[in-house]
Amino acid sequence: MKVAIGCDHGGLNLKASVKELLNALGHEVEDFGCHTADSCDYPDIAVPVANAVVSGQVDRGILICGTGIGIGIAANKIKGVRAALCHDSFSAKYSRAHNDANILTMGERVIGPGLAKDIVTIWMAKDFEGGRHERRVEKIKALEK
Ligand code: RB5
Repeated sequence: MKVAIGCDHGGLNLKASVKELLNALGHEVEDFGCHTADSCDYPDIAVPVANAVVSGQVDRGILICGTGIGIGIAANKIKGVRAALCHDSFSAKYSRAHNDANILTMGERVIGPGLAKDIVTIWMAKDFEGGRHERRVEKIKALEK
């Protein structure tokens, strides 16, 4: 899959290890920055990654900041985005299976790289189950009209 990845300064190290993992899993990664530890504003990264996802330029996005919260709030302002903050493997699995999340967010100051790798591996592998969940996701989409 094609995956857009981005972070602010609070997520720089975790982005590097997630990028390495995605490459090892055979995904094509497009890195939207940031690229240095200089302080930056997470909406400036969230929006281009979100646009890449909703335009179909990439299949999915992964966004990382200190908590995973701010960058996810910003991404969810873009129509078509379903960004899910996941800090455990159960949430990662069901954000895909039930919510068809198209962006995963995580916080580097919350979880370590080992757990993040498990979360990303599960999240990338899991398909949307559809069925009754399709109806619910359609209702979310209707809120954007
Ligand atoms: C940056 O200091 C920090 O606020 C940011 O990375 C994130 O945690 C915001 O939600």
